[in-house]
Order: sequence, then C-alpha cells, then structure tokens
Amino acid sequence: MEKPAHILVATDLSSHAGKAETRAAMLAQDAGHEEADAAAYGAALPLQTLRAMFERTPLETEQILVNAAKAELARRARPLGEKFHIEVTPVVKVGRVHLGIVAHADEVNADLVVVGGYGAHLVRELFLGATAEKVLRTSTRPMLIVKQEPLSPYKRLLVPVDFSPSSSRALDWGMAIAAGAEINVAHVYEVPNESTLRYASVEDKVVEGYHAVARHQARDAMSAFLKDRRPAETDFQRHILHGHPAAGIRDLAEELRPDLIVMGKHGQSEIEKLLLGSVTRHMLFETHCDMLVAMER
Ligand SMILES: Nc1ncnc2c1ncn2[C@@H]1O[C@H](COP(=O)(O)OP(=O)(O)OP(=O)(O)O)[C@@H](O)[C@H]1O
Ligand SMILES: [Mg+2]
Repeated sequence: MEKPAHILVATDLSSHAGKAETRAAMLAQDAGHEEADAAAYGAALPLQTLRAMFERTPLETEQILVNAAKAELARRARPLGEKFHIEVTPVVKVGRVHLGIVAHADEVNADLVVVGGYGAHLVRELFLGATAEKVLRTSTRPMLIVKQEPLSPYKRLLVPVDFSPSSSRALDWGMAIAAGAEINVAHVYEVPNESTLRYASVEDKVVEGYHAVARHQARDAMSAFLKDRRPAETDFQRHILHGHPAAGIRDLAEELRPDLIVMGKHGQSEIEKLLLGSVTRHMLFETHCDMLVAMER
C-alpha cells in the first residue's frame, strides 16, 4: 500500500486541533509527494447554530465570521506549508460540521481524513469529541484521530486484529504509515460459552481443554494472517491474549504504550456498514492514544 499523499485535515481552529494539523503535515511530508496538494486543509464553521439563534443573522455578520475564519486558517496554514515543504490549501466551509468534512473529503478524494480527538468543547470524561465520532460514523474513508502532541514520527504501533478484511486493511495502513516502526499485532480470543461452562460446574480440566484448543486456533489464525506480510525492518511482535476483546486490547495498550493504534472500522460481525464496531468504539473513547481507523477498502 502507498503512503497517503492527499490528506484532508479538519480543524475548528482550537489549540487541540493544532495537533491534528501538525500530524497531518508530518504525514504529508513523509509521503514525499512533490506535486501540489499533498495536503488539503479545511474548516467548517457551525454557522447554522448562529442562524438558529438569531432568526435572521445579518448577512454581514456571517460574512465577517467567514472572513475571520479564512484569515485565521491562512495564518495557521502558511507556517505548516513552509516547515514541512508541502502544499496546503485552506478551505472554509459553512454548514453542519461533520457533513461538511465528509463532503469535502469526497470532493478532493482524500486518501486520509485527519481530525482532532477533542475540539473546542472538551468534555473531561470523554476521550473523543462529538465531531470526530460523527465523521467516523458517516465517512467511508480512513480516518486518523489525533489526541497526542505530534512530537515525532510514530514509533510503536498496536494493531488489534480479528482477522476480518477490515483488520487486514488496518495492518496495511499501519505498515504504510509508519515504516520502520515497531508493529505489535494482537488478537484476543474468547472461549465460547466460558462463563456458562464455569457456571454449570463443568470440570476445570474440561474447560482448560477448550481453552487450549481456542488458543491454538488463535495462534494458527494469526500465523496465516501474517504469512505473506513482512514489515520493512523487524518482524511483527505477536500478542495472543485471552479475554474480552475490548478489555484485553485496552490492557495491552496500557502495557505497551503505543503512540498509534490502528483498527478496522468493522470486524467480523459487519451487521451494519454504517455502525462503528464495538471494540473500536471502546478504544476510541477509552484511550488517549492516536487512532487510525481503516475501512475495508
Ligand atoms: N478479538 C479481537 N482481537 C483483536 N482485535 C479485535 C478483536 N475484535 C475486533 N478487533 C478489532 O476491532 C476492529 C473492529 O471490530 P469490532 O469487533 O469492533 O466490530 P464488529 O465485529 O463489526 O462488531 P461487534 O461490535 O459486533 O463485534 C477490528 O477490525 C479489529 O481491528
Ligand atoms: Mg467483533
């Protein structure tokens, strides 16, 4: 897979979004495409709220706000372009924020959409802003959610896999975006009906037997999954864990402290294409780590 050359970063011009802007610029530079529009840059102003507040917002007021956003965006875009030697195209859109971002990503055919994990309205208990979540639900494009200060290229990746096409794509993305990084590939297996087995007081030895089979199957599946893939420099670090997938991955992330987690938008269930898989959703809300969410294709 190619590195993403055409990146759209959405910003609400908050300081949190500044991290997303810088990370997007770093990735565009890393993709090393000399041509123009290596990175696009957009903002959507939620003017609708204002329109709703004052039944008739004077047109000049709207124009003043749009102009101010344009000026601020240009002020932020210029140093990024110069520092990272990339072409940055500032675009201000008016309307519902997540729809504006998704529509613009389609318009410019962005390879990757980058958003900040938190916006101007940071709710303490939540590790993910409403806009990021809505874009993710609506978009069919891979998305990077930036929560950390982008101090260096990604060095340690965690890629949780359930062997689905989405998670396979996630691994492709991980390898493309952070060549040379340590890549940890993890799978959490469950023993079918384990709690019922225990509850029904099935002998420990029997349960252990199931456990061993499940572990073996997980190992084999992981080997098959990784067989034709080789990271550039080192081998993958494999992790096979037992337990609840979301909890297992969260614990592993706490132990490994990766700087990027790459997951599929969906997994094995694929009940509803627009929904976000529950394991991915858990991680988005429960970690401060940057996350790249890959789509099936
Ligand atoms: N058991 C697992 N071990 C490791 N990673 C997993 C596991 N299950 C899911 N994942 C990761 O989460 C991503 C999304 O899968 P998830 O399970 O959240 O969605 P789903 O299977 O479509 O829906 P459901 O919420 O019904 O399980 C996968 O692409 C993969 O990256
Ligand atoms: Mg699943």
